[in-house]
Parts: sequence; C-alpha cells; structure tokens
Amino acid sequence: MSELMNGKELAEKMQAELALKVKELNERQINPGLVVLLVGENPASQVYVRNKERVANQLGIYSKVERYSQTISEDELLNEIEKYNKDPRFHGILVQLPLPKHIDEEKVLLAIDPKKDVDGFHPLNLGRLFAGNPDKIPCTPYGIMKMFEAYDIDLTGKRAVVIGRSNIVGKPMAQLLLMADATVTIAHSKTKDLAALTREADILVVAIGRGHFVTKDFVKPGAVVVDVGMNRDENGKLIGDVKFDEVAPLASYITPVPKGVGPMTITMLMAQTVQSAEAERGEL
Ligand code: GUN
Repeated sequence: MSELMNGKELAEKMQAELALKVKELNERQINPGLVVLLVGENPASQVYVRNKERVANQLGIYSKVERYSQTISEDELLNEIEKYNKDPRFHGILVQLPLPKHIDEEKVLLAIDPKKDVDGFHPLNLGRLFAGNPDKIPCTPYGIMKMFEAYDIDLTGKRAVVIGRSNIVGKPMAQLLLMADATVTIAHSKTKDLAALTREADILVVAIGRGHFVTKDFVKPGAVVVDVGMNRDENGKLIGDVKFDEVAPLASYITPVPKGVGPMTITMLMAQTVQSAEAERGEL
C-alpha cells in the first residue's frame, strides 16, 4: 500500500511560512502584489481565480482580480497588461488561460514583463528553464518538485515518464525531472503502446486531461504516481487522470485528487509573487 503525498498539508505548511515572510516584508514597506486578469465567463477559470484570490488574501498578499468581457479586443487586453507592467503595486501578473479564440495567447504571454510573469509562461522564462538557468517556473511542475523534495523522493537515475506535452505542465515537468538527473520520457495521446512504456516508470506524472485514464495496467509496482488531472465525472465530481482506488495499492507514493497537486500550484504562484517583490527590491 502506498503513502499519500498530501499536497494540501504541504501547501498549508508552505503557506504559513509565506505568510510570515510577507509580514516581515510588510514591516520593511515591501508589499507583494498580484493582479489576475480574467477574460470571459469560463466556469473552471472562475473557480481557479477565486481560489487564487482567497489564498493571496490569507497570506497578506495585496491582490486584485480584473474581469473583462469575452469580447475584449486583443489590443485592449495588451494595453491592460502594459498598464500593470508599469504599476509598481503589482509584482505578479497572471492572465488566466484559456483565452477566447480571437485573442492570440502567445502575443499576450509575450506582453507580460518577464519579471512579473509569476506563472512562468513567458517564452523568456521557459527558455531560461530549458537552458538550465530558471527564474520563474510554471507553478504546477514546480509544486510537484517541492512534493518530491518534501517526501524525500530521490530522482537521480530514475526512469520518469510524463504523460502530456503542454507548455505549462508536461514539457517543464520533464525539464525539471531532467535537471534532477532523472531519465525522462514524454508520452502523449498518440504514443504507441503507452501502458508498456509507463510500466517501466519509477516516477509517473500524469497530465493528459482524461478522467481515470491511468489504470493499474499502466503502473509498475512501487512507482511514484503524480496525478495532475482535474476532470468532472458524469455526476460533476472532481476526478483525476488516475484511477486512484486501483493504482494506490500498487504505488509507493501517490497524490490524491483533490488535495494533491492543485493546492501546491497555488502555493508556488504565491511563492513566486513574494520572490518577485523581493527581487524588485534587489533583495534576492
Ligand atoms: N489555466 C489553467 N491553469 C492555469 C494556470 O496555472 N495559470 C493560468 N494563467 N491559467 C491557467
């Protein structure tokens, strides 16, 4: 039977430390600030943004959510980003994705000042990560690395398989595992004989976005299994990409959904906002 990697518990511990840090910074007139730009009415995005705002407030981070109509033009949104690039109250700018189809996501991400890009999605920050000299790191893979660290999971020489090849999870996850000396394979929906490949993994990170996709047939006994999935089943219940009940008995460590990766993602966003405020003052 596996040990649970409790993201919620670790996130709470890290958030308590961050709250103390913010308090200490406030005493020196450094007030970390985060602005979240939300376009349209995507229900999942609304929930994510509310959660980010709540945690920012709990930590004493100054936060603002700007809501824009689904019909905002690309130029108007770019102007808004420029406004916040110049606004010294905010050390972090996050544009919630996905954006409506008429807006070019890459243009928007390029417009964010890389120093304020607390999501780590700007091509400059991704480039730095892939060159092995990271500054801002995409929060989900960053949070997963913190979990490996907290649970003393040694990655050196291990075979890691990441299912999913997005710029915000799969690719940066693979790079972080590589930097930690794992031997890494990126798999995806078109990979042939996926289960045979994943059965070789000591570390399996699943970010494919399909509910209960990974069954016990995909998992080597003793593997570490991390589930990035956030799907709704037919009853509207939040479920992961991994069939937890049948995989958990096989795994050495496993993350649950909810209370696994999700809370760590938000925590790393806050950590990078605080770090950005400190860097701006030349304190890092
Ligand atoms: N949409 C889904 N996850 C994320 C995230 O981590 N950041 C942003 N900006 N948008 C998202």
